[in-house]
This record gives sequence, structure tokens and C-alpha cells, in this order.
Amino acid sequence: MTQASPNASFAGYHKDLAKPEAAELTHVRKGTPGGEYLRRFWHPIALTTQVTALPKRLRILGEDLVLFRTLGGTLGLLHLHCSHRGSSLEFGLPTESGISCCYHGWHYAPDGTILDTPGEPADSPIRHRISHGAYPLREHGGLIFGYFGPPEAMPPFFLTDAASVPGNHFHPYLLTFDCNWLQVHENSMDPLHSVFLHTRMSGVQFSEAFGALPVVQYRRTPLGVTSTAVRRIGDMVWARVNDELTPNIAQFGPPWEDGQTPKLFVPPAITRWIVPYDDTSCMTIGWRHANDQVDPDGRTKMEEIGLESVDFFGQTPNRDYADRQREPGDWDAQVSQRPIALHALENLGRTDTGIGMLRQNLRHGITALARGTAPPPPPPPTHDGVLTTFAHDTVLHLPARGNDDEAFLHQVCDIVTEITLGTAGLPHTTRRAECISRLKAAGLC
Ligand code: FES
Ligand SMILES: [Fe+2]
Repeated sequence: MTQASPNASFAGYHKDLAKPEAAELTHVRKGTPGGEYLRRFWHPIALTTQVTALPKRLRILGEDLVLFRTLGGTLGLLHLHCSHRGSSLEFGLPTESGISCCYHGWHYAPDGTILDTPGEPADSPIRHRISHGAYPLREHGGLIFGYFGPPEAMPPFFLTDAASVPGNHFHPYLLTFDCNWLQVHENSMDPLHSVFLHTRMSGVQFSEAFGALPVVQYRRTPLGVTSTAVRRIGDMVWARVNDELTPNIAQFGPPWEDGQTPKLFVPPAITRWIVPYDDTSCMTIGWRHANDQVDPDGRTKMEEIGLESVDFFGQTPNRDYADRQREPGDWDAQVSQRPIALHALENLGRTDTGIGMLRQNLRHGITALARGTAPPPPPPPTHDGVLTTFAHDTVLHLPARGNDDEAFLHQVCDIVTEITLGTAGLPHTTRRAECISRLKAAGLC
């Protein structure tokens, strides 16, 4: 009997699906290479509105924690289980200066100092001998950020230029995804999925323009990877640059863009992080930005933006299952890649170049840190504490060039990408004007 090839018809039996996970990239617990790497960055962990008068239990990077606000107004993030005998501090009582465990009243400051052990004799040295696990926090734009690495390696906290547009309104949101963080983050370097998932497969989810097959260029930047997707929309050419910032930030233009109206270097509508709860669940957490540049017509639906909700299609499982099957969204496509997507079973094509670059950057940082041969990536270049980034939408009136149009779109893609990346060193306050002037010099507007 001849052995059937695993690539023949009806080859289900011969497929070897028992492949290992890409653990180095996907596992996040303390002590794993990926988990240690992710612990070297600030991450948003909750919405400000989630912290009420009661403590909030949460899990980040596989660690069980309690987030609370003291009666004096200071935020604290502590290991969940009391240092005395392990009761959960989600049942603790916030005080003026900390939180008290419900079981025997041990009293903790937000930095983990044990302020009091009230049942112990007054001269007991126990509270001076130990401290409780605690992490530093920052609050900005309705998000609470935590840092989970060694204090001596704490990087500076920064905002991107998208979050520093004059008059910007921050609309924070948080969406839970029941799968590994990396496959959700990788979606940021997959502009092709917008053509299919969001337009051609089950109907227009954002705007019809996303259904035009784009010319795409991926580029490595000092911060991560960008994709420039250039589409022909009638007499217009729409260039959308998406921005991936290693390890887990991405920025995108608004979902309603239709490529019909001229615009130049309009900043992104979304800055978001993918933050692991643990190996098989994570959150998309970030801001929808609303300002005169990105949303001059007031299309942001702020009442839809918040906890487990955002104002564009398909980001949660909160629909009827049959509806999700008929018209799947990002949540369905990404979570269904398995609890942890198996890279060894993928067959990546040319359109997946951006995914490969993203993984390579991540692997590079993880490996360097694990070997101790190089520090994690240096703090990003900033101007006045603001990081210059790359995402934008540009729509140009450039009628089609007949049979040469595809070559022309490639040319536009090259020029827009060069200008976008070539102005990275400029302060965010003057950069847009310089981008426009370079685009004019190139004869594109
Ligand atoms: S277990 Fe918390 S004070 Fe005893
Ligand atoms: Fe999407």
C-alpha cells in the first residue's frame, strides 16, 4: 500500500496538527522570555471608571492583582493575596492611606509598605521585615497604566503625537478577547483583512472603500513596523498608514474613511494596546481620539465607547451566534485562530510580510533581553515627552493613469511612505506642515 501524501486530496488523516506553540512569543507569565520582555513597558490595565469605592480584582500578565483607590485619592496596584495568610484583597477596605485586609486588618500602602498589623503586639517587628508586592501606576486620558518590571529598568512614560493633537478628546475603551494577545496585536499589520473580513466576505462593515484591493508596502521603523495601503477610489487615491509600535501598541485611522474627500496627513483615530490577562485572554485597551483633524464632522459615537464597547463593528462577541457566523467581525476572526494561534500550522503568503516583520522585531527584543546581551529597546525619541509616530490618512485627487495606474499607485505608495518615515525626527508640532510641503514638492498635491 502506498502512503498518501499529506498534500493530496482527503488528507485529513495524514495531517500532523500536534505542533508546539510559539511559546517564546506568546507566553506571558513571569519568568518566561516573552513575559519578562513585556514587563519592560508601561501598559494600560483598566479604565479609570472601573475603579470605584470597591477594590477591583484583575489579572495582568498572568498575575492576580487588586486595583484600588485610597480614600485620599491615590491609586494602588497590589498582589491580590494578603502577605499574612493569603486572603484576597478584593475583600479589603480602602482607607485614607491604603487598603486593609478583611481577615486580620493588615494595612497596606499603595507602594506595598505594611503600615500596620493591628492584631500583633505593638512592638512586633513583622511589618518592618517584609513588604507586599506592588506596582507603580500612572493615569492619563481615562486609562490607568501599570509597570510590571524591575523598578531600576522602568522606562519613561510617554504619549504619542496622536494623543497630543490640540483639543483632543480621549474616549477610553476596553474590549476582552478570549485568546492570546499576539494574534490580536498582529491584526495591526494585516491591512488586507479589511478587504475581505470587513467588506467582500459578508458585506460592508466600515466603508465600501476598504473593499478595494490596495497596493501595500511594509516598512520597519525605529519603533516597530508600518503598513502603507494605497487604494484607487474613483479619481482619488487613498493612502492609509497603520502604525505598529513594538511590543503591543498600534494606531489606525477612523473606520468611516471612504477615500472620497481630499485630506493630508490626518492623525489616527485610535491608539490601542493589546495587554495580556494571561496566555489565553487579553484586552484591547486604548483611546478613540476625537479632534478637529480626525473627526471634523462629529462622527465619533462617544456613547458607544467604553467598557466592552466601541463605536465600530465586530469588536465583541455580544451578538447572536448565527449573526456572528453570517457576518463575522474582528473578534470572531481573531479569537477563532485558536486559544493561542499555532504558527507552525500557518502558511504565510506575501501579504503576510508585515506579520513576519512584527514577529521578528518581537523575537529580537525577547531574545536580546533573555540573553542579557543587549538591553530592551531604548526609550523612544521624544519631543517634549511626545513620541513622533507614523499613522495617518491621506486622500489625493489623482485621476487614474490608464494601464499604468497600478505602477502609479506603487509610486504614490513609495512617496507617501518615504515622507512618513523620513520626517520622524521632526517635532510633532511642525512635522505635518513639512510632510505636506514634501508631498507638494513630489507633485502629488
Ligand atoms: S490574611 Fe490578611 S490580615 Fe490575615
Ligand atoms: Fe479589522
